[in-house]
Amino acid sequence: MTRASTVFVAPFALPSTLRFLGAAALLPDTTFSVVAQEPAASFMGALDDGVRGRIAEFVQVEDCHDAGQVEAAVRKIAGSTGRGVTALVGILEPLQEALAQVRERLQIRGMDRAEAGRFRDKSVMKDALRAHDLPCACHYLATDAAGALEFARGTMPLVAKPPAGAGARDTFRVDDVSQLEGWLRSHPPTPAQPLLLEEFVQGREFSFDSVSVGGQHLFHSISEYSPTPLQVMESPWIQWTVMLPRDIEVPEYAPILSAGPRALDALGMVTGMTHMEWFRRSDGSIAISEVAARPPGAQFTSLISYAHDRDFYRVWAEVSILEDFTPPPRRFATGAAYLRGQGAGRVARVAGIERANQELGDLVVESQLPKPGQPKASSYEGEGFVILRHEDTERVRDGLRRAVEILQVELSA
Ligand SMILES: Nc1ncnc2c1ncn2[C@@H]1O[C@H](COP(=O)(O)OP(=O)(O)O)[C@@H](O)[C@H]1O
Ligand SMILES: [Mg+2]
Repeated sequence: MTRASTVFVAPFALPSTLRFLGAAALLPDTTFSVVAQEPAASFMGALDDGVRGRIAEFVQVEDCHDAGQVEAAVRKIAGSTGRGVTALVGILEPLQEALAQVRERLQIRGMDRAEAGRFRDKSVMKDALRAHDLPCACHYLATDAAGALEFARGTMPLVAKPPAGAGARDTFRVDDVSQLEGWLRSHPPTPAQPLLLEEFVQGREFSFDSVSVGGQHLFHSISEYSPTPLQVMESPWIQWTVMLPRDIEVPEYAPILSAGPRALDALGMVTGMTHMEWFRRSDGSIAISEVAARPPGAQFTSLISYAHDRDFYRVWAEVSILEDFTPPPRRFATGAAYLRGQGAGRVARVAGIERANQELGDLVVESQLPKPGQPKASSYEGEGFVILRHEDTERVRDGLRRAVEILQVELSA
């Protein structure tokens, strides 16, 4: 008797995806199948033997973001395993709407299209948050240049972004109307490709990551970004750090501890992990920035695991597939320093390793140093990372600051 029959959708066998895939595959008493774009031989070749041995069916499709193709693959799997599929999951943000559509069509439990849409479209999300009196930046979804300029004249500085972007890739700050005019001439917004404009929120940025089961928000974790991802994108010399303080049930976090769960209710979160980003202004007021209905990326799931001494890849699988979760206590402060080469070319070497080992060796719990020959990364996460952990939050905070001072990734053509 199996407790679940899972289909995991993953276009390619990327290392971050495989952490979640492995956890889902290894859940006991379940049947596990994969839908992917990558051919079976190379996808399977990237898996550990134990995980590979758990895969009942593998179906290759041309496009995992196409609900029709995923639906056909799921029907095929249900036919050949002889079991109704009870969980359809995937961790990548752009997949969420297609998965929701297929769940609805095949009556598989989990997030439906309306829910997924509220998390995916930042304009719909902000409308829902504001309707529940939750703090967020003023926004305007521009479908033509005239509307964009009118909003911009009353709201400067502002941030412009596509309504469903990711990785801060297409997000930029606008400081005056003429700068926006220039952009609108080369990228005029249309109803099919609108441009989201938001009041620029001045302040520090944080995340609020959560686990919900059956509409109950049972767990949250807070992390502090230093500096904001937009500043890291704008400044190629900055190496980003993220820190999870040990104590988060403290007065300085009271506003998000109250607003975070209410925001999840406003968006209709039922079961799963979410990743919320929010700002705190210097006067202490907050603004919720965006919420994704998926586990966080950029090593955050590992960081949350280290802070609680619990494997949150497995937590994600148990929650999304079995709706099973007991929240663990937070026991450590932890954080990551993202190592990022400056200039152009490929990684030549990482300077400062010996020094970093001497100063920080006792704090390091995981590291992935950039390898010589590795191409320069396109994202603000850089080419590698170091994860630190300690019971004392200030030791981790100082350690992260030192790590980005000491470790320098040298690139060469
Ligand atoms: N309204 C805003 N005010 C100030 N900074 C913002 C605002 N919106 C986004 N940013 C900055 O841009 C980054 C990327 O924007 P975000 O909406 O999170 O896009 P993505 O989905 O690509 O992560 C954020 O992490 C934040 O640093
Ligand atoms: Mg973001």
